[in-house]
Amino acid sequence: MTTLTQTQNDLIAQLRAICGTANVLTHEDPSADLSPWEQDWRKRVHGRALAVVRPGDTAQVAAVVKACAATGTSIVPQGGNTGLVVGGVPDGSGTQIVLSMTRMNAVRAIDPANLTITVEAGCVLKNLQTAAENAGFLFPLSLGAEGSCTIGGNLGTNAGGTQVVRYGNTRELCLGLEVVTAQGEVWHGLTGLRKDNTGYDLRNLMIGSEGTLGIITAATLKLYPQPAAQLTAWAAVPSMEAAVQLLGLAHQRLGPGLTGFEVMNQFSLSLVDKHYPQLRVPLWQGSPWCVLLENSDSENEQHARGQFEALLESAMDSGCVHDAIVAESLSQARGLWHIRESITLAQVQEGLNIKHDISIPVSRIPDFVAETDALLAREVPGVRMVDFGHLGDGNLHYNVQAPEGGDGKAFLHDFEDKVNTLVFDQVLKFKGSISAEHGVGELKAAKLPYYKDPTAMAMMRALKTALDPQNTLNPGRILA
Ligand code: FAD
Ligand code: MLT
Ligand code: ZN
Repeated sequence: MTTLTQTQNDLIAQLRAICGTANVLTHEDPSADLSPWEQDWRKRVHGRALAVVRPGDTAQVAAVVKACAATGTSIVPQGGNTGLVVGGVPDGSGTQIVLSMTRMNAVRAIDPANLTITVEAGCVLKNLQTAAENAGFLFPLSLGAEGSCTIGGNLGTNAGGTQVVRYGNTRELCLGLEVVTAQGEVWHGLTGLRKDNTGYDLRNLMIGSEGTLGIITAATLKLYPQPAAQLTAWAAVPSMEAAVQLLGLAHQRLGPGLTGFEVMNQFSLSLVDKHYPQLRVPLWQGSPWCVLLENSDSENEQHARGQFEALLESAMDSGCVHDAIVAESLSQARGLWHIRESITLAQVQEGLNIKHDISIPVSRIPDFVAETDALLAREVPGVRMVDFGHLGDGNLHYNVQAPEGGDGKAFLHDFEDKVNTLVFDQVLKFKGSISAEHGVGELKAAKLPYYKDPTAMAMMRALKTALDPQNTLNPGRILA
């Protein structure tokens, strides 16, 4: 066990006075297990915190940040700790504070006429969706981790998910923010305005800044009417070209009704079939790709079904779909989505892997996949591609699994850097982004300067220095 300095002991005493003794956990207490806050979801890093601090309101967050700023102690904000790029866990130094926001989970207000909901940052996404639903509305952000991720983390990463094709990512769903700055001041920006041209857009700067520019304590978010009917279809398609063709048809035929368009390659579905056979994956054995489509209709189920059937009929006529099913009930639809959302977990069951979250203009995805698959097969004999994601947004989780029977740890050690460079070089060539929705965190921070415009990098560094001159907010994340 490391011995704390007098300054660290004084700081902990101060933090306990601010948040209450029970809400400041340290390694000095032998009964406290800090590992849930120190270990990232993918088990890539196990850090060591000086303390885990759990504030109960915005004033406490501000006081904690002031106390940390006075001692130059760095702070790692954390929500549900479901992030996939090592952004919300402490480093191994034992000197950082994890600021866990999960106690701040209240729904503060719903304004039905303004179509807005105001919630605290630690509100779990699923609870936010339920609060909107109970008030007769839809909050459309939806992702596999929604049962444990928080809206603060969603805003911190500008999360995407499965409804972006219709509603946009988290940034597009947010109207106002309450933020504690690096100096411990509170920015009261909880506006529900849809128009406000009074200078720099600080809200959009904070969103996606991964806790490096400020601590988000609350947000005002957009609500939408609930669809009258929602139908889900699963289609077997012969190629990625065909999937892109189907997407074009779906846009034409369904218009704004198209709320989900996900693609999954055969190997990713074979992993779900192998590790979760009870989920009964349909149509995967005879097809290199499957597509999951969702149609949200403002009229009624009959109208939605008619539209879907017409779409699939014309897709079959043109040869871009070989076989398809339309869910007959809500529980069948949920089952199909559950299969899609289980790919991440099935991949974990299969072993360690190299994850990519890239975006490419949709029109170029077929060429990107064909070319990059071939390059990887040459560099890593026996490589297995777990390729799936949000094709409607041009966002692929283009993941690389070790060859069959290979040791995951050794594979990462030998190939991670080489594979990342190969894939990211291809992304650059196809004018894409190396992070579409998961963020940069620590995992991609060292690579970012090679793939982002140098002037943009310089402006980002200048903003960081201006807003957080002591570099105490989540240092080493985004900017290495
Ligand atoms: P954390 O993991 O706790 O933190 C993430 C980042 O946000 C960190 O940098 C942290 O410092 C910062 N942060 C957290 N709270 C705050 C705050 N209040 N103020 C400022 N910064 C803060 N992501 C997608 O985009 N789309 C998906 O479809 C998707 N699916 C997923 C499925 C699974 C099974 C899993 C495990 C993850 C998935 N993710 C997905 C990734 C993850 O769920 C998202 O990144 C999510 O937004 C993280 O929320 P969190 O509360 O867990 O944040
Ligand atoms: C998803 O789309 O399922 C998520 O982004 C998680 C992942 O990439 O594994
Ligand atoms: Zn995703």
